[in-house]
Amino acid sequence: MCGIVGFMSRNTPAAGPLVSGLHRLEYRGYDSAGVALVAPDGLRVYKQTGKVAELDALLKRELSEEDRRRCTIGIAHTRWATHGLPTRENAHPHLAGGGTLALVHNGIVENYASLRAGLEKRGVQFVSQTDTEVLAHLVAHYDQGDLLAATCKALRRVEGTYGIALVSAKHPGEMIVARKGSPLVIGVGESDIVVASDVSAIVAFTRQVIYLKDGDVARITPGSVDIHSLDNAPVSREVQEVDWDIGAIEKGGYEHFMLKEIFEQPDALRNTIRGRLDPTGGTAILSGLNLSPRELAAIRRLVIIGCGTSLHAGMVGKYLFEDLADIPASPEQAAEFRYCNPIVGPDDWVIALSQSGETADTLAAVRESIRKGALVSGLCNVVGSTIAREAGRGVYLHAGPEISVASTKAFTAQVTALLMTALKLGRTRRLSREEGIRLVAEIMRIPDLISAVLERNDAIARAAEKHANANDMFFIGRGILYPTALEGALKIKEIAYVHAEGYQAAELKHGPIALLCPKTPVVALLADIPGKEKTLGNVQECRARRAPVIGLVTEGDSEAAAAVDDAITLPPTSRELAPIVSVVALQLFAYHVARLRGCEIDQPRNLAKSVTVE
Ligand code: AGP
Ligand code: GLU
Repeated sequence: MCGIVGFMSRNTPAAGPLVSGLHRLEYRGYDSAGVALVAPDGLRVYKQTGKVAELDALLKRELSEEDRRRCTIGIAHTRWATHGLPTRENAHPHLAGGGTLALVHNGIVENYASLRAGLEKRGVQFVSQTDTEVLAHLVAHYDQGDLLAATCKALRRVEGTYGIALVSAKHPGEMIVARKGSPLVIGVGESDIVVASDVSAIVAFTRQVIYLKDGDVARITPGSVDIHSLDNAPVSREVQEVDWDIGAIEKGGYEHFMLKEIFEQPDALRNTIRGRLDPTGGTAILSGLNLSPRELAAIRRLVIIGCGTSLHAGMVGKYLFEDLADIPASPEQAAEFRYCNPIVGPDDWVIALSQSGETADTLAAVRESIRKGALVSGLCNVVGSTIAREAGRGVYLHAGPEISVASTKAFTAQVTALLMTALKLGRTRRLSREEGIRLVAEIMRIPDLISAVLERNDAIARAAEKHANANDMFFIGRGILYPTALEGALKIKEIAYVHAEGYQAAELKHGPIALLCPKTPVVALLADIPGKEKTLGNVQECRARRAPVIGLVTEGDSEAAAAVDDAITLPPTSRELAPIVSVVALQLFAYHVARLRGCEIDQPRNLAKSVTVE
């Protein structure tokens, strides 16, 4: 779930690269960290609750200069607790074989209880409450001299998900890594090898990487990477080049990654759009979808799946597909969808939205849809991610690495990608060329419209100042702006810890209005698109209960500006682009409220960047 780093070299000390790799993974959210180094006379293991900086301080205190110099192989981990409290004992690496074997793990061993009971019967003593510890003991138990074979044997008994890395004092020049349902990448440098659960911990060393596939187990030595299947048969995986560099994952002068990513949106969206519009034919060119006009024309229904922010983008997609392509579209929370025995089949197109491409709930829903014969596409940001690969066809967002736990540019890129997909699908149906040409021109305006919203940053910060002390907030929107209200509420919950609810503007009076009072600000989405007049009526209802209203209104719309207490003005847009333009203002609003409340914006409590457990 959280972070793995491994380092293997003939002569470069491992501690430094391991700690800097862990720092690169900090954005993913975690509660404890640890490292194991292979010394000639056994393992050195250091664990600590809290931040990587504290682990680093521990290493500085306790790792002798001699060990620091001579340990050139090691593994490290940041844990996001699933089984057992975030304590030192539960932090990884976990040890087995009398302290000779150390293992780090991301994911969940679902059958850990029965495996643990079996090992305990054989006299194995456990020291943690984690599911992970069984993995270490199982591998040690099967180790008869071949560490790779022992790992394969152990993993064949495991139900659940894992990315693992392990080292053993009995096999001092080796490291074993494996994956199933949790990512693991091997970076092959000129002289050193770095493994990590996320490519951003690798690019500082090398851009040549091997993405392991589910069921792969690799033996790494200073000069070699041998990949096998779980039945221990050799497999080959190609070395690929990562197409972005270290600059993309650094803050570039911004105080937080979130702010950087909000401000990056014009460029990110230019990349999402680049080469994908046909202004003459009035359509979009999305070759990754790999669907012929005939296949597109045969689609009867769309199901858009995702979680969190990606689900909100999918909810915007419903309006776009139904309006532009005349196709019923239902957005579904991926886990709910997966477990409701969904009715999908060959006439349905399932579109999975995921920034990371690794979200376990979304991946499971993709697999279920493939099993049922539906047409499945992935709209992912991370190239080579599991959902992108398993869906087999789709659209990459090309928004660049998103480091902040709170997703921002991925949302606007997803909505843009959905708009282009709806345009393409619409043009196989009743959407006219003229209408298509209008939409192409609209899509091309997106980067500049976002820049225009970013210019309002100071005004948005002032509005945030007025309301930064509120403990509860409401976000209301109607129609295509309703999902944006949900997203605005999610952002402020995640990073500012303000209790916030997103509602359809009309629904407020059916109950939640009972909570309104001068202490509950309402953020109303009032872009000048059809439906605005009705939302203005709902705003009056809020003000009649003395709730202060912050309105996101279109520049020049004096009626809307006069109807609210604080107006944040937005550039004029069409209905299709209103969610994108409005959400950027809400991202900034949440950012400023969180900053004023002194929150740790890039690493909000309890959250992880990519949720690879169900
Ligand atoms: C967004 O701010 C969240 N941290 C979260 O809701 C996220 O969108 C969700 O977990 C889905 O992630 P994915 O897009 O990587 O699948
Ligand atoms: N399930 C393991 C634990 O709770 C791994 C968690 C993680 O992915 O960080 O320790």
